[in-house]
Amino acid sequence: MAGSDGGSAGADRGLFITFEGGDGAGKSTQIRRLAGALRRDGYPVTVSREPGGTPGAEAVRHVVLDTSAAEPFGPYLEAMLFAAARNDHVEQTIRPALKRGEIVLVDRFMDSTRVYQGASENLDSNFVRALERVAIADVVPDLTIILDLSPSEGLRRAHARRDPNAPADRFEKEDVAAHEIRRQAFLDIAEREPARCRVVDASREPEDVAKDIARLVAGVIEKKGIASSRSAAMRDSLLGAGDGRS
Ligand SMILES: Nc1ncnc2c1ncn2[C@@H]1O[C@H](COP(=O)(O)OP(=O)(O)O)[C@@H](O)[C@H]1O
Ligand SMILES: [Mg+2]
Repeated sequence: MAGSDGGSAGADRGLFITFEGGDGAGKSTQIRRLAGALRRDGYPVTVSREPGGTPGAEAVRHVVLDTSAAEPFGPYLEAMLFAAARNDHVEQTIRPALKRGEIVLVDRFMDSTRVYQGASENLDSNFVRALERVAIADVVPDLTIILDLSPSEGLRRAHARRDPNAPADRFEKEDVAAHEIRRQAFLDIAEREPARCRVVDASREPEDVAKDIARLVAGVIEKKGIASSRSAAMRDSLLGAGDGRS
């Protein structure tokens, strides 16, 4: 199948980058920084998150994460809800943005399902893989940045971040052992798919983490030949100057 080894087949003008890792690893922080830096450089950027990213998918997010309404469904049906939400997000948001040639940054994607449903909930791996194929419909990230952090530090950050009056969501309530299993599961994915995945040490200062990420992103921008409005403007002015038509 085209695109199964990384590279968003069928929407391959833009650049698709996903951010993965445990709670508190710094995904939201780093996406915000990267989006700002890319926009300053003149690149069109779309930022989104999972589960969610479209009205339908945000509704699923609310049901699964913020209420106990989906708990009686059990992990298999819950995984199907996540898959339905993901496909809506892919078709309504991600694929159209890639077709427009944008850089799409998504906070959690298919690897979170592999890790949270596959590794933690112990769902049948054939079932998880089949759902993944349906959900992502060949839109595979060009680059997946896995922010690696010890569970204790991640939990410390996540607790410090949370409004003390807000209740913990389901995944935040779990213990350190569950977080450790997921950390290893993310690292295993990176080892199996080195062309797509890069592990970044997230325990350092945000600036240092951002520098590593910027370097990785610059590499894929170059590889895929993504142009910014600045580079286009520069090229136009050079061409204009060259043939006297400016
Ligand atoms: N490198 C870092 N060092 C220390 N604190 C950080 C770092 N990156 C993020 N934080 C803080 O930790 C908390 C969680 O970060 P966040 O970006 O929301 O993580 P995630 O989206 O992965 O759950 C936030 O309060 C954030 O300001
Ligand atoms: Mg976040």
